[in-house]
Amino acid sequence: MMSAADRCVDEFRFRFGRHGPELIPIMLGGMGVDISNADLALEIARLGGIGHISDAMVPTVTDRRYDTAYTKEKLKRYKYNVKSLDKSAVKFDLGLLAEAQKMHVLRTMERKRGPGLIFINCMEKLTMAAPKETLKVRLESALDAGIDGITLSAGLHLGSFALIEEHPRFRDAKLGIIVSSVRALQLFLKKSARTRRLPDFVVVEGPLAGGHLGFGLDWARYDLRSIVTEVLQYLAREELAIPVIPAGGIFTGTDAVEFLEMGAAAVQVATRFTVTKECGLPDRVKQEYFKANEEDIEVNTISPTGYPMRMLKSSPAIGAGIRPNCEAFGYLLDANGHCAYIDAYNREVEKNPHAKTIHVWDKTCLCTHMRNFDCWTCGHYTYRLKDTTHRLPDGSYQLLTAEHVFNDYRYSKNHEIALPPREVEPTPVAAG
Ligand SMILES: Cc1cc2nc3c(=O)[nH]c(=O)nc-3n(C[C@H](O)[C@H](O)[C@H](O)COP(=O)(O)O)c2cc1C
Repeated sequence: MMSAADRCVDEFRFRFGRHGPELIPIMLGGMGVDISNADLALEIARLGGIGHISDAMVPTVTDRRYDTAYTKEKLKRYKYNVKSLDKSAVKFDLGLLAEAQKMHVLRTMERKRGPGLIFINCMEKLTMAAPKETLKVRLESALDAGIDGITLSAGLHLGSFALIEEHPRFRDAKLGIIVSSVRALQLFLKKSARTRRLPDFVVVEGPLAGGHLGFGLDWARYDLRSIVTEVLQYLAREELAIPVIPAGGIFTGTDAVEFLEMGAAAVQVATRFTVTKECGLPDRVKQEYFKANEEDIEVNTISPTGYPMRMLKSSPAIGAGIRPNCEAFGYLLDANGHCAYIDAYNREVEKNPHAKTIHVWDKTCLCTHMRNFDCWTCGHYTYRLKDTTHRLPDGSYQLLTAEHVFNDYRYSKNHEIALPPREVEPTPVAAG
């Protein structure tokens, strides 16, 4: 009998419904802020998979990419409030938010080539000082600008489908959710039943993923395979034909085949693409990911969202004590202007009134640090990235192309990982 190790992902195909385009069942997961950028997502779509961009901090991202000045203008408007502890006055202008989101999506979709699809990852935990209103604008603007699909993630609140049910593309765009348990899926389906629209796919994210986790600090007690099994059994019992897409720790093509053989429609992967040339991380940070060993990675609770997050222990964001930057950013402010980092920061300032620099260890200013690529969130298997490439004579690692990594997932068998063609020949060892 053939085992999963003898097969490759290329033997499988995926399509949404009967008439959707035939896709390679590899989905690049969303990585905010601007880590899964347009270049990376477009490359995945060109190769026939599904690529995610992310709308995390979208005005800031368009400022950097397209020379807009949303962040500068927002800071100018709220400058008077910078020293105040009360951030309740700081709000996003919904018209400008819509403009930024449309630009972000349109400019990406204009460049789309090939048979694949481009989706946008919308983290609902980005409460943006007015959770419902800003999320509605983000979702509707992405649909207006022609995105192929939306994945609702981190902090999924159950009424999101209802927010956009009047939109003309509500039934034509692909809408999916990320859950980490069968219970979360059941709740979402129950709550959105009124809209008479099922999700087009459900990403089941396990405890080895990067970014925020849908688990507590006891994440190691859970495993993706068991959760996926429960979800598949539940959907079969209920006769719901929703494609299931496992994510988190799928590192080789064979890992992917194992899930596809279980009945998954596709897999969502991210970590292996963090060290590609196309990925939005600065090259020096990609080298940090390559260098990491298992003991250099931790799951901690410094994210003000309240969700545990996995990152490199050497992330500059850990222990930094910068002044909250909500007037410029403020993506994690709740409806009342609260963010857990503001409280942690003020506590430290009160404790150390004369200190020039302070350290805040329990929370971080996630907006600022994600914006500056100083919070090095990563998947559990980041420590295996060094085995996916060549070490260069100067000790650094050769970056990969997204095409190489995609094709390795697509064609590899027996858990093998193909190394890329060498870009620099190794220095010959002198004879004698
Ligand atoms: C650097 C990084 C950033 C991430 N950011 C997000 C994010 O903004 N939103 C989200 O839903 N998932 C995020 N994720 C999770 C991925 O989309 C994906 O589901 C998961 O990491 C897949 O597991 P793998 O990295 O082991 O392949 C992130 C993952 C990484 C590695």
